[in-house]
Amino acid sequence: MKKLLFSLLTLSMALVITGCKDGNKDGKRLLMVTEATFPPYEYRDDNGDISGIDPEIIREVARRNNMDVVIEDMKFNSVIAAVQTGKADVAASGITVTEERKQMVDFTIPYVSAAQVILVKKGAVIARVDDIRGKRVGVQHGTTGDTYVTEKYQEPERFDNAALVVAALNAGKIDAAVLDDAPAKVFLQENPGLKKLDEPLTEEFYAFAISKERKDLLEMFNRTMQEMRADGTLDEIIKRNMEKEISPPVNREDLPWWGKVKYDFRKNFIAGKRYMYLARGFVITLEVAGASVVLGVLIGFLIAIIRSTADQTGKLKFADMLCKVYLTVIRGTPVVVQLLIIYFVIFGAFDVDKVLVAILAFGLNSGAYVAEIIRGGIMSIDRGQMEAGRSLGLSYNKTMALVIVPQALKNVLPALGNEFIVLLKETSVAGFIALEDLTKAGDIIRSQTYNAFMPLVAVALVYLAVVMLFSYLLTIVEKRLKKNE
Ligand code: ARG
Repeated sequence: MKKLLFSLLTLSMALVITGCKDGNKDGKRLLMVTEATFPPYEYRDDNGDISGIDPEIIREVARRNNMDVVIEDMKFNSVIAAVQTGKADVAASGITVTEERKQMVDFTIPYVSAAQVILVKKGAVIARVDDIRGKRVGVQHGTTGDTYVTEKYQEPERFDNAALVVAALNAGKIDAAVLDDAPAKVFLQENPGLKKLDEPLTEEFYAFAISKERKDLLEMFNRTMQEMRADGTLDEIIKRNMEKEISPPVNREDLPWWGKVKYDFRKNFIAGKRYMYLARGFVITLEVAGASVVLGVLIGFLIAIIRSTADQTGKLKFADMLCKVYLTVIRGTPVVVQLLIIYFVIFGAFDVDKVLVAILAFGLNSGAYVAEIIRGGIMSIDRGQMEAGRSLGLSYNKTMALVIVPQALKNVLPALGNEFIVLLKETSVAGFIALEDLTKAGDIIRSQTYNAFMPLVAVALVYLAVVMLFSYLLTIVEKRLKKNE
């Protein structure tokens, strides 16, 4: 027995180890970080996807090297730190090459030249660059515009993105906005009340930033970018995006409260068809919960019969013992752990459908609770009924099936309904095995929109609606059963 246990343990450990190795083998992913309110370099298109010159170049570089790009949107003053600390592979965010930044990261060959320009309201007193001295100047936090104004003039007003700087200028909160030339052009299109000063503040060029520890990656970028320059791809991408009509990002902050709600709603559910995550997740949650409740009831029923039979007749002793072990183990450990064990240990070496794994895990788990519910129901039926049945000449099995069980089931119906409600919500941990159920769907949206409120509330409302509908159906069934009496 001990030997058997030991070999089972080693076997499962071996499976875990192979399972883990399998999960990590994608080294072909290129994580790009950016701040995506900077058209035409990076911005969210109508689908909510990040488009523009930078993502296009990076995608092409990756494509030519058989890699997949994942883009993460963050504050501009974090993008360089993200590659420096190894959290990301490349920062592509209209980043100006500067001496200070070169101390922290490596830069690829530059791909475009740019300038910091000044926007003011038409008819403003500021006519030349030096006129911004002593004025309220707005910049995007952490940009070269920020550094330049701070060092050469005075403390500027720092905003999280260029769109906010322009909005502040429009609202008269600042006298001048400093930003990069190409984005300034996009913002000017939609703000006819603003104009650009002819004289630029600085001249600069952009490159991608890569960790100093990743010389191989830097080399790969430079080689591919040179290729793309030689075959015209680089210029084509830049020219096409520069000429494209892009509507500048809206400023959520400038909207009235209902406008903000509408904006968030669009962003979280409509843009990029994100509602599809919820729809697909909902179906998976129902599938898993529905199938596992059936499995659970089957298992539970079987166990309850075995155990009460053993109890009343003294037969089935061995089966009874097995049932007890099952109940103890299942009820004594968290369902997430069981799910993980089934997925990584038991099926670690096979490629099984995650939905099936989840159904199995939740069904096995629920079975233990259902077993006790049903057993409780059977025990609640007066012993006299069994005796009566037997003395009428019915066998033990017949009495069980015709007299005891039907009554028991009716008695435990509310408890079973409750079990389904618990189970439905418990499936929300399915995301642990990367199954995209309803909860995970909300989480995916949250990770894309950086908005916790809308996706989480939406997910909660869907669960609530299902539970309410189910409870309602259950009361109807109960009423019917009562009538039948
Ligand atoms: N070129 C400027 C800099 O490097 C501003 C870049 C801002 N980029 C952005 N994606 N918001 O400091």
